Amino acid sequence: MNGDAARLIERLDGGERLTAEEFRRLLEGSDEESDALLRDKAVARRKAVYGNAVFMRGLIEISSYCKNDCLYCGIRRSNRNADRYRLSEEQILACADEGYALGFRTFVLQGGEDAYFTDERLVPLLLELKRRHPDCAVTLSLGERGKESFQRLFDAGADRYLLRHETATKYHYETLHPPEMSFERRMACLRDLRAIGYAVGAGFMVGSPGQTEEHLANDLFFIQDFQPEMCGIGPFIPHRDTVFAHEPPGSAALTCRLLSVIRLIKPNILLPATTALGTVHPQGRELGIISGANVVMPNLSPVGVRKQYALYDNKICTGEESAQCKDCLNARMRAVGYEIVIDRGDPAALPQLNSPPAS
Ligand code: 5AD
Ligand code: FES
Repeated sequence: MNGDAARLIERLDGGERLTAEEFRRLLEGSDEESDALLRDKAVARRKAVYGNAVFMRGLIEISSYCKNDCLYCGIRRSNRNADRYRLSEEQILACADEGYALGFRTFVLQGGEDAYFTDERLVPLLLELKRRHPDCAVTLSLGERGKESFQRLFDAGADRYLLRHETATKYHYETLHPPEMSFERRMACLRDLRAIGYAVGAGFMVGSPGQTEEHLANDLFFIQDFQPEMCGIGPFIPHRDTVFAHEPPGSAALTCRLLSVIRLIKPNILLPATTALGTVHPQGRELGIISGANVVMPNLSPVGVRKQYALYDNKICTGEESAQCKDCLNARMRAVGYEIVIDRGDPAALPQLNSPPAS
């Protein structure tokens, strides 16, 4: 076993903070035994906080129009081959009603940065969603907006906001995004969301083009520093109509190791086993859960539009077989000893966890 990595894992598990350099050594020191230690520690922490419960979020992909041009993303504005759609208010509410009947208590409205979805359109939608389902949490994942807009959506009932930081290294951010997008603005949005009172989700892709262990160490350090309530990580997967069409996908194994590290950084974090992880490996979501993740995000979008919300190639859950992702995921979770629960799935209070390891 790599002794340095093992010591760093023990320190993290004991509640200590690591430097970016130490995170880098932890990643670099990966071998079979230290990976097993890392996973065991992460699962023990996860079980102490959340038992074997898996929270589910009903993902409603409301629009594939996007004004941005992120180099990695299949719905970037310059992709002329993308077949665009947006859901009507009635369609979105119908997805949520259907989800509620299936046991969903969190809805995630996700979409590209679509100018159609102004505050004037979103506020009445949120009010109606909350009127119909007052016991549910609503998460937004609609990209960057101004602070007033974030505030208005929060006042209308939005509880949580997912905005992946994508990479915590400025020059790496700049190689993944067009010049009009700014690393500082991204980070400012995250701080605004936090100040308003949202539960905030950050996150990044694993294996994005140009990414090094140093970049990943910066991402881990950022997570430790910012302490987001949620963190979405999944492997990068190339999309045929993007600049990165021929880049290799990120690895499921590395994604799982990072999930374990993030669980140790913040034991009560809400950590999804993502669709992208399920796309690069047939048991990706199960592997994510047994590495320390505690959330799954079944797709609730109308089956007829699912193929059009293609951020990357070969996305799972887009065919006719996927009408009930919830049942599919439930079976998958049970097979590895976990149970999907009917719950909003708010961050749990932290029990007295960080007692120093017995020496
Ligand atoms: N591969 C994997 N994840 C992607 N995302 C966008 N494009 C890709 C891709 N090609 C992720 C980004 C974004 C989230 C909604 O999806 O991290 O924040
Ligand atoms: Fe969607 Fe399995 S989770 S088909």
